[in-house]
Amino acid sequence: MKDFIAGLPKCELHLHIEGTLEPELKFDLARRNGIALPYTSVEEMRAAYSFDDLPSFLTVYYEGMQVLRTEPDFYDLAMAYLRKAAEQNVRYAEIFFDPQAHTSRGVPFDVVIRGLRRALIDADRQLGVRAQLIMCFLRDFQAEYAMATLLESLPYKEWIVGIGLDSDEKGNPPAKFAAVYERARQEGYLLTMHCDVDQDNSIEHIRQAIEEIGVDRIDHGVNILEDQRLVDLVLARGIGLTCCPISNGYVTDSMKAEGIRKLMELGVRVTVNSDDPAYFNGYVGENLVALQEELQLTREELARLERNAFEITWLPRHLKDAYLAEVDAYLA
Ligand code: ADE
Ligand code: ZN
Repeated sequence: MKDFIAGLPKCELHLHIEGTLEPELKFDLARRNGIALPYTSVEEMRAAYSFDDLPSFLTVYYEGMQVLRTEPDFYDLAMAYLRKAAEQNVRYAEIFFDPQAHTSRGVPFDVVIRGLRRALIDADRQLGVRAQLIMCFLRDFQAEYAMATLLESLPYKEWIVGIGLDSDEKGNPPAKFAAVYERARQEGYLLTMHCDVDQDNSIEHIRQAIEEIGVDRIDHGVNILEDQRLVDLVLARGIGLTCCPISNGYVTDSMKAEGIRKLMELGVRVTVNSDDPAYFNGYVGENLVALQEELQLTREELARLERNAFEITWLPRHLKDAYLAEVDAYLA
């Protein structure tokens, strides 16, 4: 099964580029930028990665990304991820970035996006991995800052396929960003947002995301299983869910594997992704292996997860079909 998963053509739809910052690169960037880190070794740094819920993870995540300062830093970050993706036979990725996590500490928006964009172009040419960017807003900042960031992104609209919403969900419901999402839709961006697992008011947040915001996709979203009306809405609208089993195991009580199984049985377009692989020790390949071992998934079921993913990508139909054909050929 591990060999089957290794060769399976994969699609990654829930990956925070800042969450791919491995300790080794963190040390390199710190050295390059003259920043002192509070750790003396990679082992010591990894040992400090202790979190058991979303806020405790986010503290480590935001602290870690402070070494990212210049355009080459963002290029190197994205290129390192895309090399890893190519190794795992990820054929296509939609990659989140958090511009406000950088502009809020003085790094200009254009430094961030130019570095990421250049890596995506090189990876397409050199590695055969295609990728697009999704710009996320930090939901624990004010909606006005998200709107200002949206406006700042408009000159780079051709480089951004859609918008997302992440960071601490507690007390920061989707409705807080209704005007930002409405404007983003008018600008032609596709829409997704985190409805993180087992949050306060998860059900109400998912309802708002679907009914008030009109999202095209939901990041995580397994809690729809607690409300049949939400399941019906997701099915009726063909909304895909980007689940992250290993991440779930870090920030909640389990991988939510049974929930993912149930979503598959219901015919929901559920997918498997990695979230923040440098912090949760697992890229998409490891996530598929972990889920397969937990649920004893068959080859057909693993292929179905990847078919779901390519189907809900924000790619034109002919490209979706080309990737779907790769999965089918591999399974055959
Ligand atoms: N930002 C990076 N990873 C995140 C996650 N798992 N949930 C919410 N915000 C995030
Ligand atoms: Zn996430």
